[in-house]
Amino acid sequence: MIDLRSDTFSLPSKEMMDSILNAQLGDDVWEEDPTVIELEGLIAKMLGKEAGLLVSSGTQGNLVSHMSYLHRGDGVVLEKECHINLYEVGGISQISGGYPLIVNGDNGLMNPNDVEAIFTDPYNIHRVTPRLLCLENTHNRGGGKIIPKENIDTLSEIAHDNGGLVHLDGARLFNAAVATGMPAAKIVENVDSVQICLSKGLGCPIGSLIVGTEKFIHEARRNRKVVGGGMRQAGIIAAPGIYALNNMIDRLAEDHKHAQMLGEKLKEIESFIVKPVDTNIVIVDTTESQLSASDVSDKLEKKGILVTHMGDQLFRMVTYFGITTEHVETVINSISEVLK
Ligand SMILES: Cc1ncc(COP(=O)(O)O)c(C=O)c1O
Repeated sequence: MIDLRSDTFSLPSKEMMDSILNAQLGDDVWEEDPTVIELEGLIAKMLGKEAGLLVSSGTQGNLVSHMSYLHRGDGVVLEKECHINLYEVGGISQISGGYPLIVNGDNGLMNPNDVEAIFTDPYNIHRVTPRLLCLENTHNRGGGKIIPKENIDTLSEIAHDNGGLVHLDGARLFNAAVATGMPAAKIVENVDSVQICLSKGLGCPIGSLIVGTEKFIHEARRNRKVVGGGMRQAGIIAAPGIYALNNMIDRLAEDHKHAQMLGEKLKEIESFIVKPVDTNIVIVDTTESQLSASDVSDKLEKKGILVTHMGDQLFRMVTYFGITTEHVETVINSISEVLK
């Protein structure tokens, strides 16, 4: 099978597996695992923040970040289609106590006027007070869209000027960095905290990282313990993380090239609306076509190709380490055969 459902299906390379076997280990709840300490220092340095923390998943990284910022009833400004709003089981409310204040985006891009309207709404007794703004870059449902740095900066300024803080869900931040050529630290220079997934394009089997100030990370470490995320010899997770940060970032360009190839082919089908392909995700709207998303996935599955539904008329293909140019060419040929 050629599995294009998600970059979470990437498998660790032999070199990455070797890094696990050779890792120096200790008890990370006691903050004594040297490999975890090294990884947390490395990501903090790479993103220009004071400190980092290893967590088990992207969802846990976003959750402990929110727990560190929010009190029950605090407003959180979220773009409607972001992962935190749609795919994290409402943890932002049920555990962190945040109240979502939803903004409609354009493929994930929020209009600063909409965000400003929420942050500057005059105080009255009925109003939820916004305390946090969450951004997502690249934006998953936006088709791997790169949120421009100017937009991130403008939105962050609005939040900060009005007493709010900014968290960036950067599950695929390095895809944005590689595609734009802008260092990741520059992209996030004006946000307060960032979550990065190791287990997506970077090819690790498990793990995410969060970064922010020393004070924020201290709180997040305590909150990670609350949700059962204090892990012991976590160096076995950190070692592939170090390997990935040193060896797996530049190669994301190859995934982007493969996604472009798929996007170009899918655009040839007139009734398909292909979202602009900025990075490693291709999302296609089939509303104008006779085919539903399940029709497409059934037809492709018969040819040994897996894609995900993002809705009745929306399907997604994702490229990652392990999907080769040969695979992409096979998919392109199958598209010509079965999706005319
Ligand atoms: C944008 C974004 N944020 C967060 C996550 C959550 O990561 P995890 O699956 O590791 O919890 C994902 C997962 O797909 C994602 O796409």
